[in-house]
Amino acid sequence: MQTVTRIAELRATLSAWRAQGLRIGFVPTMGNLHAGHMSLLAAARYRADRVVASVFVNPLQFGPNEDFDRYPRTPEEDAQLLQGAQCDLLFLPSVEEMYPQGRDQATRVHVRGLSETLCGRVRPGHFEGVATVVAKLFGIVQADVAVFGEKDFQQLTIIQRMTQDLSIPVEVVGAATVRAPDGLAMSSRNRYLTEAERAVAPRLHAALMTAVKRIDTGERDYESIEAQGQAWLLEAGMRPDYFAVRDALTLQAPGPASRELVVLAAARLGKARLIDNLRATRR
Ligand code: PAJ
Repeated sequence: MQTVTRIAELRATLSAWRAQGLRIGFVPTMGNLHAGHMSLLAAARYRADRVVASVFVNPLQFGPNEDFDRYPRTPEEDAQLLQGAQCDLLFLPSVEEMYPQGRDQATRVHVRGLSETLCGRVRPGHFEGVATVVAKLFGIVQADVAVFGEKDFQQLTIIQRMTQDLSIPVEVVGAATVRAPDGLAMSSRNRYLTEAERAVAPRLHAALMTAVKRIDTGERDYESIEAQGQAWLLEAGMRPDYFAVRDALTLQAPGPASRELVVLAAARLGKARLIDNLRATRR
């Protein structure tokens, strides 16, 4: 595996691959890699001849009171894991390389509507930071296929929409959420949990499962399903940001024509903020 920190270096390797007609897969991350990230690498490997991963903790997507400074950074472990997953190229840019004009960079990418709801309500500007860095990474790597986790369902939806709206020639693929045996979705932020909090954390997934079961049995009183979910999270000692049943395509409240639904939840537990979601089909 080759590791590069400069855009120019990355482009040199990539254009050589492209000249050989090789198909390029891309997995953007913020590092502190775990089995969830590794499953994206495997999905990219399956769909491409060469796999590029990026590790960049993107300051633009963190709010002023969020964890940018203490976000876990483990570059040696990340490189080892990527090497083991047969990653061909690791892009590890500095903040200066990505944002030479700093936070004042004039161009921002904002996906309207999808970015204001759910996590966007609680984290204003977050998805603008995500869309801007992903657009930039897509411009740098020019991959044929890029893989994102369904764990961050709203993020995946926003990136798919951005790619479509801006006619970026990349196929955006979603990969299933990887969970611990007790159901907790893997996340770099799980390390903020104390042992006692970690024991409670799987209740988020349990609450989502119950909501999906109610939808599967034909129930359509989504407000009651949401209220029960919220109550369960509170009972578990979490501070829920939202527990919502939405149309999986628009992320809006389900309308009469909505068939594909998604139940999404975000809750604070100690120093961590957990997010998760499960799909449901209306019958
Ligand atoms: P990060 O949180 O590092 O996640 C990188 C990718 O891994 C995302 O596509 C995310 O959805 C996926 N992922 C995380 N946990 C997962 C799990 N348990 N199962 C499956 N996939 C999982 O998401 C970001 O970084 C950033 O916002 C980024 C897209 C890189 C832009 O900065």
